[in-house]
Amino acid sequence: MSESVGVLGASGYVGSAVVSTLETEAYDVYPAAGSSHETYPTVDLRDREAIRSFVDDVGCVVNTAGLVGVNACEADPEAAFEINAIGATNVAWACARRGVPLVHLSSVATIGDPERQPITAEHPRDPTTTYGRTKLIGDRAVRTATDGRTPSITYCLTNPYGTPPDRAVAGNSVVDFFLERAIAGESLPVHRPGIQERDLIHVTDAAAAVVAAVDAVIDPDASPDARQYVLGSGDAYSILEVAGLVAAACHETIGSSPDVELRERPTPDQPVIRRFDIDTRELEATLGVEPTTTLEGWVDEELRHRLDERERGRNAAHSR
Ligand SMILES: NC(=O)c1ccc[n+]([C@@H]2O[C@H](COP(=O)([O-])OP(=O)(O)OC[C@H]3O[C@@H](n4cnc5c(N)ncnc54)[C@H](OP(=O)(O)O)[C@@H]3O)[C@@H](O)[C@H]2O)c1
Repeated sequence: MSESVGVLGASGYVGSAVVSTLETEAYDVYPAAGSSHETYPTVDLRDREAIRSFVDDVGCVVNTAGLVGVNACEADPEAAFEINAIGATNVAWACARRGVPLVHLSSVATIGDPERQPITAEHPRDPTTTYGRTKLIGDRAVRTATDGRTPSITYCLTNPYGTPPDRAVAGNSVVDFFLERAIAGESLPVHRPGIQERDLIHVTDAAAAVVAAVDAVIDPDASPDARQYVLGSGDAYSILEVAGLVAAACHETIGSSPDVELRERPTPDQPVIRRFDIDTRELEATLGVEPTTTLEGWVDEELRHRLDERERGRNAAHSR
């Protein structure tokens, strides 16, 4: 019999990629979303009873739900706390109580401005935003609630980009944003100084890593430890490099490239992270996680795909 895996936040960007990857791997998937969705039932992280009955019905839980992003959390810090901190605690507590293994999604926003490189899960945490702070409270709750009671893995995810296999939810990374602008014939705005780095991981590689974590925590021989990893590709790019990649791909494919436009930073009080090298060795050695999509390859392929789609749309409009 296939293992049943409950996915919280299944309607989201990462959650939808996790659901399709688990289904491809023949898991018995129970997706749930936050607010009312036609596709999935609602299981609100803040509703402890709802979380308990969700956890009672599955053999493993993946928590990809959250209030995500710096701006969303600054706009509603109370909701950020209730969902990212208390909500994650509710999930971890219910899993620990029933001995259900847990895979939890967190963020490198919990680290803040890195003080040493390469970055590992042991790096000190000093978040600079409400998003990072509330996620960190959630991570610590996961560790405290599950350690010694049920296997858990928390991923501090870097920056996922790209389109999930079913294309149900669009990415909103800087790469996706630049591609969209380039196709629309608009310039690529880069916040000064432009040398700030991001580790970029394709969303399907992030989903594959989540499935590897599920495989590990449901292993009958898994010890009930709370483990934590930084999840990224190991390939960091400055924002100027990302803009350059998109511009070069446009030049190659359509013969012209968008302008790159330097703009003032909207959040000048936030640190400029000049280097973001993550150490992927432990994740590869222990869980066999090895991202396969390269940013360059994906940008070329996605640009061609979107241009073809646009062409097909135009042809269909003409033939009507
Ligand atoms: N995307 C990134 O750049 C990024 C980077 C690092 C880490 N992460 C982490 O990865 C995880 C997934 O992020 P994402 O980009 O997929 O986010 P997303 O697209 O915004 O999806 C969030 C999901 O959480 C659900 N949700 C929101 N409030 C909820 C609540 N109160 N109860 C239950 N579910 C709720 C949403 O459902 P509704 O839409 O129905 O509300 C949605 O399914 C998060 O833990 C995030 O912190 C993301």
